[in-house]
Amino acid sequence: CGIVGYVGSSPAGTFLIDGLRRLEYRGYDSSGIAVISDNGVAVNRAVGRIDNLVDSLGSEPPQGGTGIGHTRWATHGPPTEANAHPHRGGNGEVTLVHNGVIENFQPLRDELIGKGYTFQSSTDSEVIAHLIAEALGQLEEDEAEPDNRYVAAVQQAISRLRGTYGLAVLFDDCPDMLIAARFGSPLVVGVGRGEHFVASDASPLAGHTDRIVYLADHQLAVLRAGSLTVLHRDSGKIRPDIQLLETETEQVTLDGFDHYMLKEIYEQPVAIRNAMRGRLDDQNATAIFGGLNLTPQQLRSVDRIILTGCGTSWHSALVGEYLLEEFARIPVEVEYASELRYRNPPIDPGTLVFGITQSGETADTLAALVETKRKGHRTLAINNVVGSSIAQAADGGVYLHAGPEIGVASTKAYTSQCCTLAMLALYFGRLRHLSYEAGQTYIKNLRLLPAAVEQSLSCDVQVRQIAEKYQSASTFLYLGRQYNFPTALEGALKLKEISYIHAEGYPAAEMKHGPIALVDTDTPSVFIVPRGTTYEKVIANMEEVKARGGPIIAVTCQANPAIDDLADDVIRVPAIPEYLQPIVSVVPLQLLAYHVALLRGCDVDKPRNLAKSVTVE
Ligand code: G6P
Repeated sequence: CGIVGYVGSSPAGTFLIDGLRRLEYRGYDSSGIAVISDNGVAVNRAVGRIDNLVDSLGSEPPQGGTGIGHTRWATHGPPTEANAHPHRGGNGEVTLVHNGVIENFQPLRDELIGKGYTFQSSTDSEVIAHLIAEALGQLEEDEAEPDNRYVAAVQQAISRLRGTYGLAVLFDDCPDMLIAARFGSPLVVGVGRGEHFVASDASPLAGHTDRIVYLADHQLAVLRAGSLTVLHRDSGKIRPDIQLLETETEQVTLDGFDHYMLKEIYEQPVAIRNAMRGRLDDQNATAIFGGLNLTPQQLRSVDRIILTGCGTSWHSALVGEYLLEEFARIPVEVEYASELRYRNPPIDPGTLVFGITQSGETADTLAALVETKRKGHRTLAINNVVGSSIAQAADGGVYLHAGPEIGVASTKAYTSQCCTLAMLALYFGRLRHLSYEAGQTYIKNLRLLPAAVEQSLSCDVQVRQIAEKYQSASTFLYLGRQYNFPTALEGALKLKEISYIHAEGYPAAEMKHGPIALVDTDTPSVFIVPRGTTYEKVIANMEEVKARGGPIIAVTCQANPAIDDLADDVIRVPAIPEYLQPIVSVVPLQLLAYHVALLRGCDVDKPRNLAKSVTVE
């Protein structure tokens, strides 16, 4: 979910709507704004995209210089208008937006119902609104410091919450102030001239101010047009740490493509070039990373690496595992961030933890890094968004420089992540046993990538025809081995995300231990079978599928009669050394998912139920 807020002399609604559009990647189930004017608080909410909210406002958007807004990814309660934020508490004297999950909302809700409060929604967030209203009702006015009563009400309410929150709160009888509070869900305050802003991340602030304050957990901010007060829950007022906003603002357009996803698939050669720019050091046959912030001593003592992430980023971590183990000879563990954050694994001082993320905002990845850092370990990020929450939280890292990725299904970020991990494998390899000559060959091969990816895009028309053939299938299998086992997982994920067809990715040899039961004449199996160590073995797996009448689509790299005989459709991509092949082989799978989804009439860029970045646990 995404939050925005504004206090100042301009119409709040304009900033709120524009800000929500920039935060739509965090969820697009429903949205809403609340603006205070002389007539009180006006709340507008709508189910679906921000455009629906704008339509519902008509030609008369609510007027007023103070307001809050929210775009939702449903957790508690379906995406209905009643469950959309802002929510109101008491008799309407409190209005708020919330990001996060309140774990003890049920007992609190029961308690509040017992006290006579009525609930309009099934959200956990409405509980907070009533708790604040309840606290406010019991507090005395403080004439010397009128804000104190509102701050105290928010503090009392949040002290009862278990879970995470980013909050922006308006009070009916204090129309020129808003209060923000954070625990576990990022909030950024923008400091303008005679105006203040708040948002879940800095993107809505770009173009309005470049002076920002990242709120830390347990901090609250009181925003008025001309003043900003930051408080810590326990220690009272603190000096806000105003930083300069670092963002790469880029105008993003479709450039003649029908969808962002397709545009981003086609941007991959450039994105990979950008990921490598300035990072290949021919002279020393290694890679250069300026932002790792590790001393030579720390670099030498790395004896284990943990790669963590979610979704597609977790798949690139798997590719990274193969690369780092083969070339750097460092044991690597790949862990879902959502598991790592609670697993409490023993971590030695020589272990480096990399969080891999496109957006830099995924709640589980952020929490996993914060937790490992809290235990005293070095945390690094492989991240696409400059200044994002994960960039703030990590000790150092590598930016992908892939440019904004708008399509919810990740494509160019994935291949850029794999490419970055390939460079990291070279870097750590050269710090250890990898020879100068091997380093040079590695660099030469990395340089082949952009053209190879470019060439693999030429299968687009053929892939469209294959998509036409199989668009009605109800299950797909994706099978590959070694470096292309993660490619199989990623191909399956792409298809399921945007076409809603059930798809499973498996290591090809593991297929016979279960998934083969799914094989029938209506279930296509997509084999990723380039030349490499397990080539013949994967061909044997293809035979097994063929023997059971299953249609086969093969992604391979050169003419090979065995594959032509076995597969119903053969997609050829350029041959490149095995360890870089996943970056090339995934392209036809991205295109396959795209075309199948399109043929099935799905919303390719904003598939149902998903968010570009899941900012709740
Ligand atoms: C969401 C998106 C996925 C993405 C994952 C991780 O689930 O729908 O496409 O891979 O989050 O996002 P991140 O920004 O951390 O890479």
